[in-house]
Amino acid sequence: MMDLGTKSSVAPLLIILAFVALFTMFEVFGKSEKRFNVERLKTIHRINGIFFILIYLIISYYCIRFIEASKAELSPRGALHAVISVAVFVIYFLKVIIVRFYKQLMNKVPILGITLFCLTFGLVVTSSGYYFLVSDREMEKAMRLEEKGMGEKLEMEGITRLSRAAERGREVFQKRCSFCHATDSKAYGMGPGLKEILKGDELPSSKRPANRENITRQIREPFRSMPPFPDLTDEDVQSIIDYLQTL
Ligand code: HEC
Repeated sequence: MMDLGTKSSVAPLLIILAFVALFTMFEVFGKSEKRFNVERLKTIHRINGIFFILIYLIISYYCIRFIEASKAELSPRGALHAVISVAVFVIYFLKVIIVRFYKQLMNKVPILGITLFCLTFGLVVTSSGYYFLVSDREMEKAMRLEEKGMGEKLEMEGITRLSRAAERGREVFQKRCSFCHATDSKAYGMGPGLKEILKGDELPSSKRPANRENITRQIREPFRSMPPFPDLTDEDVQSIIDYLQTL
C-alpha cells in the first residue's frame, strides 16, 4: 500500500505534467508565430494528459482507501483537498468532452485548461505541500489527535467502532481468551471478567496498575495460574490490548 510519504512525492509529478500541458497549449494558442511544430505540441499535450489522469486516478484510489481505512470524518484540510480533487476530475472530463464532441464550445477550453492548472496546484499544496511543511513528529501528533478526536466523537454518538487492530484483537481474544474471561462483566469465571479492564486503576488479580505494559506482562508471564501464550506474536498481543481497551 502506498503510504503518505510516497503519495506526497508522486503528487508533484502532477504539477510537472500540468506545466507541460499549459506550456504546450500556450505555445499553440498564445502566439502568432510558432516556435514549434503545432501537431507535435498537440500530441505531447494529449499524451501528457493521459499520464496526468492515470497518475491522478492511482493517487485517488489510495486516498479513498486511506479514508476508508481511517473510518474518520475528514479534517478541514482533507475536505478541501477532496473538493479540489473532485473539481479537477470534473473539469478534466468537461475539457476532453468539449475537445472531442462539442467543438463549437472550443473557445471555452483555454479557460478550463488554466483552471485545471490552478486547481492542480491547489491539490498538491493541500497534500504534499502540507506534509513537506510539517515534520514527521508533528505529523504523527496531528494524526494521533485526529484519532483521539474520532474516538471521542464516536463515543459521543454512542458508537463504538473498532479499529482494524482491535477487530483483529477481538478475533484472537475469542479464540484464545474468551474461554476463561467474560467481556461483558467483571465477574470471575475461570479468570476475572475483563469489562472496563483498562478503565480502572488496577488489574483485578495482581493489583498492578491497569496499563498496556502490565497486560502484556500478564499474557507473557502470567501472575498465577493463567497459562502463558508464547505463540502469540507481539502484534497479536498489542491488538488484543487494543480490543480490551474498547471494553
Ligand atoms: C485457562 C484460563 C485462562 C485463559 C485461556 C486466559 N486467562 Fe487470563 N486469567 C486467568 C486467570 C486464572 C487469571 C487470574 C490471574 C492469574 O492467575 O494469573 C487471569 C487474569 C487475567 C488478567 C488480569 C491480570 C491481573 O494482573 O490482574 C488479564 C488482563 C488477562 N487474564 C488477560 C487474558 C488474555 C488477554 C488472554 C488471552 C490471550 C487470557 N487472559 C487467557 C485465566 C485465563
